[in-house]
Amino acid sequence: MGSMSLRNQPTSERAFATFVVLALAAFLAGGLAFTLRRERAVSAQAPAARPHLLAVLEGVMAPNTSPAELAVFRTWVQGGATREGFAPVEAIVANNCASCHGEGGQFPRITGFEDLRPLALEETSEGLFDTLGARGLHLAAFPLVFLLAAVVYLRRSAWPGRKALMGACAVAVLFDAGQWWLRQGHPGHAWAAWTASGLLSAAFLALAVVVLADLWRGPVEDKA
Ligand code: HEC
Repeated sequence: MGSMSLRNQPTSERAFATFVVLALAAFLAGGLAFTLRRERAVSAQAPAARPHLLAVLEGVMAPNTSPAELAVFRTWVQGGATREGFAPVEAIVANNCASCHGEGGQFPRITGFEDLRPLALEETSEGLFDTLGARGLHLAAFPLVFLLAAVVYLRRSAWPGRKALMGACAVAVLFDAGQWWLRQGHPGHAWAAWTASGLLSAAFLALAVVVLADLWRGPVEDKA
């Protein structure tokens, strides 16, 4: 597959491939920063300027609360989403949310204080990553980034270790999706989130180095 290999491409093709690999890296880095920031919000002291929970209750979940109930949520969130102030909210959650968001139900799980506090502290935004959401990133976007980079570029590199690296990428993606699925975005095993992000970053970095080095090392003279 000599003609298929990355090194024998015309310069324009190689420039395009370089752009794609760097764009994927930038997307991955942004997505990882986004999900880790969300996880960290749990330990934040200051309430979010535009809390995710209130944005959802005023948006897609609006039919599930009356204005009076929304005010109860608002008071709790703006008061710092404390355990002490949770009782009035808990009653509404049991009535209005648990039927759908109970154990094993609709994501995210909302059964009590531990589930609701992170949502109250999270910042919301209208950006691309917020639209995709943590679930979309871990279960779809990150795997797609790796699939594309590995199938289109890494597979065609001349580096003998490419198969092993493709395997390592698959492991990193599966570990990340698995740990996220098990935690459903909840804290408690934050080390898993950091480990997964580290694995994804390392795997993509290695992939990018191999692919870029291969692209720009010049045409293959004889078989590598
Ligand atoms: C009739 C079922 C139902 C009820 C009742 C319900 N939800 Fe939902 N909820 C859903 C569905 C379905 C989704 C996913 C829809 C989506 O993301 O667009 C969802 C999504 C959410 C999300 C995630 C949205 C995001 O973009 O992050 C939150 C937070 C949420 N609900 C909170 C609540 C709260 C709080 C209540 C109670 C006041 C509630 N829901 C009541 C069905 C329900």
